Amino acid sequence: MRTQVGIVGAGPAGLVLAHRLRRAGIDCVVLEDRAREYVEQRVRAGVLEQGTVDTLIDLGVGERLQREGLVHHGLELRFGGAGHRIPLSELTGGRAITLYGQQKVVEDLIAGWLAAGGDLRFEVDDVRVDPERARVEFTHDGARHTLDCDIIAGCDGFHGVCRPSIPNGVLRAYERVYPFAWLGILAEVAPSSEELVYCHSERGFALHSMRSPEISRLYLQVAPDEDIERWPDERIWKELRTRFATRDGWTLNDGPVIEKGITPMRSFVVEPMQHERLYLAGDAAHIVPATGAKGLNLAVADVGVLAAALERQYRDGDATGLETYSQTCLRRVWRVQHFSWWMTSMLHRLSGDDPFEPRLQHAQLEYVCRSRAAATSLAENYVGLEHV
Ligand code: FAD
Ligand code: DHB
Repeated sequence: MRTQVGIVGAGPAGLVLAHRLRRAGIDCVVLEDRAREYVEQRVRAGVLEQGTVDTLIDLGVGERLQREGLVHHGLELRFGGAGHRIPLSELTGGRAITLYGQQKVVEDLIAGWLAAGGDLRFEVDDVRVDPERARVEFTHDGARHTLDCDIIAGCDGFHGVCRPSIPNGVLRAYERVYPFAWLGILAEVAPSSEELVYCHSERGFALHSMRSPEISRLYLQVAPDEDIERWPDERIWKELRTRFATRDGWTLNDGPVIEKGITPMRSFVVEPMQHERLYLAGDAAHIVPATGAKGLNLAVADVGVLAAALERQYRDGDATGLETYSQTCLRRVWRVQHFSWWMTSMLHRLSGDDPFEPRLQHAQLEYVCRSRAAATSLAENYVGLEHV
């Protein structure tokens, strides 16, 4: 088999890239090791930056997103038993975020891709990637295949095969693992607040989010090695109520929990994001702690750079975009790493019993809420910087 771009992984990065390339008349094949049902049901991120929404609409897969996505113009920072609104749109010239589940994004992208006759193979096995020859070998429906490409896009997430296929010594990894994780739930209950609530409390961080007028999404900071079995639903609701409690008696609606899981918190970047003819994009190259709500948006930004570089290469024979791919992406990656680390450090209980630390966090939170300059800095990073 032969194609121009071999895409490994049908997450947001791989699928957005596939759509962008098709629009530019560039041939590609997408290989995914999981089943279609699995990738369409995997519950993950939910906050889309304006730029991500614009990309999806532009690609012709934004119809349901525009119908069902919840547009938010502000968010709440809650600490010391009181809430403070950050008016995101007012501070950023009208930009907003949209709440829409990642699995719906993936579902829309897959449906659009297959409807237009795109090549996407689910449940491939034993994928081998050769960065020098731009060759991918894989098993599908019991047969072994070889896919020869001009370049390979490694969009196979943090645990994929593309990054490890790069020889030792080529990449430098930068990593920070935080001493906590998030326990996340989806619950069949109307959101208790119209906007997201990022809550700092003595017992640790909590986040109130949502997926629809009927479905809430909530997160609790827990120990990194926490066992989900130790968290029956009643314990989760009790802990959420304690952390979110305000002096004026805010109430948290509860309801049946339909999904729950624990996500580790880490910062991770490899440099460069390319080796020979293999280009890494999204979680395959970097992970951000979820507090900034950036993982999915960063994946979409990476493949925007890659698609533009490939268009330039095939249309004009100009390799400049490909040569500077890693450098261009890493500027945004590190900006977003900093923002995500900053939000994480400001809102979580970091070290347990150091009384100095929560005082510093309160001072920072108060400053962000009182100073228009500081609030604008949070807001412009949160809705997504247009130029980095
Ligand atoms: P992925 O979405 O991981 O897609 C990679 C794809 O490659 C997957 O479909 C995978 O099955 C496939 N694949 C893997 N190995 C192979 C292989 N060998 N061959 C072929 N295919 C392969 N971000 C937030 O902003 N907020 C959140 O609340 C949040 N929660 C998260 C919870 C979890 C459990 C995880 C893992 C991530 C979460 N993220 C969150 C991060 C966000 O979901 C990711 O940043 C985003 O999915 C990145 O997209 P991607 O396409 O780069 O990678
Ligand atoms: C959601 C996830 C995040 O990581 C975040 O910072 C805000 C919202 C969510 O799943 O809705």
